[in-house]
Amino acid sequence: MRAELLVLRLIHILSAIMWVGSTMYTSFFLVPALSSSPAVMGQVLAGLQRRRSLLVLQIVAALTILSGLRLLWIDSAGFAAGYFASATGRTFGISAGAAILAAVLSFGVAQPAMARAGAVAASLAASANGAERERLTSELNGLRRRGTVASTVAVGFGLLAASGMAIARYV
Ligand code: HEM
Repeated sequence: MRAELLVLRLIHILSAIMWVGSTMYTSFFLVPALSSSPAVMGQVLAGLQRRRSLLVLQIVAALTILSGLRLLWIDSAGFAAGYFASATGRTFGISAGAAILAAVLSFGVAQPAMARAGAVAASLAASANGAERERLTSELNGLRRRGTVASTVAVGFGLLAASGMAIARYV
């Protein structure tokens, strides 16, 4: 059990650092720095796609959640209600919920919207028809807005989860 706990904690904390850290870096620095030059942004995104960065982040988020669920199962002796009535149990539970919401928003809403925005931007660049360009521009703006809102809220939930996990033992 002790060896399992050590391995789970290592997987959980290293994958959580990578997931939340890279999401924060992307939202706070990378996207704002590149948003003024769409051509450079396109090149950087293509480079990240070649390195399968999205797949890596999805795996890392899944590792965080799965190791977290197993740790929670062990700590709460099989999700016993009494554990979640304590301040520590409640804080771990709420933080876990926030982390899962962050994953759903990030991979279920923001990423698909951004991927679709990339395809619409390519069609827009290739289209010469005025009405078609107007329709594509409005679709692109809507997708970008949805992607930005979803990823900002996801970063908020990720930060909430990380903060809760950090203090749960001491509340
Ligand atoms: C944003 C994602 C997450 C981050 C940044 C994160 C971070 C952390 C950190 C830093 C700790 C160590 C706290 C300490 O030892 O005092 C921890 C522990 C823990 N986390 Fe998370 N976590 C995340 C997601 C999750 C999820 C999704 C779950 C459950 C479904 C979970 C369940 C747990 C549990 C039960 C512990 C205590 C482990 C133990 O008893 O040693 N975490 N987490």
